[in-house]
Amino acid sequence: MAKLKLAVIVGSNRRDSINRKLAQALVKLGANAFDASFVQIDDLPMFNQDLESERPESTLRLKREIEAADAILIVTPEHNRSIPAVLKNAIDWASRPYGRNSWANKTVAVTGTSAGVVGTAVSQQELRMILTNLAGVVVGGQVFITFKDGLIDAEHNIANEGTRAFLQGFLDQFAGIAAKLAA
Ligand SMILES: Cc1cc2nc3c(=O)[nH]c(=O)nc-3n(C[C@H](O)[C@H](O)[C@H](O)COP(=O)(O)O)c2cc1C
Repeated sequence: MAKLKLAVIVGSNRRDSINRKLAQALVKLGANAFDASFVQIDDLPMFNQDLESERPESTLRLKREIEAADAILIVTPEHNRSIPAVLKNAIDWASRPYGRNSWANKTVAVTGTSAGVVGTAVSQQELRMILTNLAGVVVGGQVFITFKDGLIDAEHNIANEGTRAFLQGFLDQFAGIAAKLAA
């Protein structure tokens, strides 16, 4: 079976982002099912409706990359019990112009990590709420990863066997749903 085209969005613009590390590990873990590429969001201008008459190239690139994907994986931090501004900015740009929502009909999975025990639970919940209005299907499951030193090695492997098996199950479920919808 052909691999699914996966667009990966990391909701952080931090150089040493732990969510980017988790996303890289998920890409490696899901390599049998997904052909993944990372979507850049940290160079997008702040959304402003005034820019819509002459949309900056970076915002058009964002829409092209989302529209070309079979499925989208968002790996996001939590900022003040919400999603980071850089992620909301990307979501808004890709939802516009009115009637040209790039999220429509896409299968989206959501996860994230922070140092706290249920860190990202609130931001993921908020993200799901936003996507429910925009995307085709938001895959279920609760995947809150507590980030600890040594969880992910330099080659993007998840060291802990239990965590690796749990995340493999999450990716398998996501791939199964995305494949059915892509067909
Ligand atoms: C403005 C701000 C707000 C934060 N709020 C939360 C929060 O609500 N919950 C949480 O678990 N961590 C919070 N954190 C800590 C982040 O989890 C931590 O910075 C983490 O490294 C962010 O992920 P990243 O490395 O992928 O950017 C916050 C950090 C910042 C900078």
